[in-house]
Amino acid sequence: MEYTVMMPAAGSGTRMGAGHNKLFLELEGKPILARTLAVFQQDPWCTGIILAVKETERTTIETIIQQEQITKINALPEGGTERQHSVKACLAAHQTGGIVLVHDAARPFIKQDVIHELVMSASRHGGAVAGVKVKDTMKYVKDGIVEETADRERLWIIQTPQAFRYEILEESSRKAEDESFLGTDEAMLAEHAGYEVRIVESTYDNIKMTTPEDLAYGGYLLKKRLEETV
Ligand code: CTP
Ligand code: MG
Repeated sequence: MEYTVMMPAAGSGTRMGAGHNKLFLELEGKPILARTLAVFQQDPWCTGIILAVKETERTTIETIIQQEQITKINALPEGGTERQHSVKACLAAHQTGGIVLVHDAARPFIKQDVIHELVMSASRHGGAVAGVKVKDTMKYVKDGIVEETADRERLWIIQTPQAFRYEILEESSRKAEDESFLGTDEAMLAEHAGYEVRIVESTYDNIKMTTPEDLAYGGYLLKKRLEETV
């Protein structure tokens, strides 16, 4: 089933500490951004990519798009100060409805089978997010003292992609803006608007390149993938 992907790429990469947007750091000779874009360029069900960018980085990003022969870009709206604002800019640039996927540009290891399951689930149920089960014991702690151990069976680590029927994400985003509600992911906005959001089990290697250790692990993952496809 066809979908459009909205990709926030307008962050600063503060935790990576590279002194510039982490998406320009290279994994096996190509920028992280190029690696993530390639996943969607290569997926025949992806009909368009909307990428939120910083105005000061527009030219650099356009160069990457050309070099990597990414032909599916529909729009390059200007991102905002929070990730949620960058996604909102993508939504405003999208006209055609259908199923939309929001995916962090900083997650280059997402696999097509997970994407397709998310799209199917969103089409059927309205909204679906990628997640993995928590592996460790989780506890609530206050002032250095354990208050309670959480029920691990009910805890999931949430990733992107997050897929929605366009109308649901658009309405949820508008409601959040009207009420100055800030969420850390799109599902939170949909939950806030009263919509049911489903989980699609993803893989632990769908990491978000966030801190310097992720570069070493990411390099290892990519080498393994490239070897698998030879
Ligand atoms: N992002 C965005 N607009 C923002 C903030 C983040 O488009 N105002 C994007 C990032 O470019 C990234 C994704 O949202 O692709 C996930 O955000 P995160 O991993 O937090 O990246 P940064 O915000 O760049 O990193 P940091 O929080 O360490 O500064
Ligand atoms: Mg951030």
